[in-house]
Amino acid sequence: MRFAVFISGRGSNLKAIIEAVQKGQIKGELALVLSSSPKAGGLKFAEEARIKTLIVDPHNYTNPQSVDRDIVIQLKEAKIDLIVLAGYMRLLTPFFVKTYHRQIINVHPSLLPSFKGVSGIKDAFTYGVKVTGVTVHFVDEKMDSGPIILQKAISVSENETLESLGEKIHKVEHEIYPKAIELFVEGKLKVRGRKVQILP
Ligand code: GAR
Repeated sequence: MRFAVFISGRGSNLKAIIEAVQKGQIKGELALVLSSSPKAGGLKFAEEARIKTLIVDPHNYTNPQSVDRDIVIQLKEAKIDLIVLAGYMRLLTPFFVKTYHRQIINVHPSLLPSFKGVSGIKDAFTYGVKVTGVTVHFVDEKMDSGPIILQKAISVSENETLESLGEKIHKVEHEIYPKAIELFVEGKLKVRGRKVQILP
């Protein structure tokens, strides 16, 4: 199975995924890294690992539909079967989501459905939650919304800071996101409505 990782920023999840492929934990081929920005720090991890990179900057297009049309052409050409969003800060169009139905997954830094959006860690911390966490889910047309694959809870300690919580969250992301990709690649995820069953 050939998969692509989409990024917009520093790419620490991409780095963890590359390592999981190199270790043989994920038995798929990471064939493409797509970035929405030429400045994304994560591009360097792809280059170091000699993975093909592609920059599709929405600023160069007049509307989101034409961005996604272009991306789909490139993904078809690269024969991609799974799209892994890793800090890709753009909402995919319904056209894209339909084209790759149940073939797109995302990681989010909160226990969904709480604290959706672009600042999940900060929003949960500011709200004063005692428990937060990480969610990996299938992507549908709405933001941070599709069926949940894996979740892991994290306690917020009495002396927690936003920075220390961020570190805890990222550590868990780097553990459960590669695991979710491994499960997908091995055909162990079965989706029924909102429920995702993990096959033995
Ligand atoms: C991650 O914390 C990911 O959960 C979050 O962006 C960060 C990307 O970090 N995604 C979202 O908030 C999606 N709504 P990274 O570039 O270091 O992997």
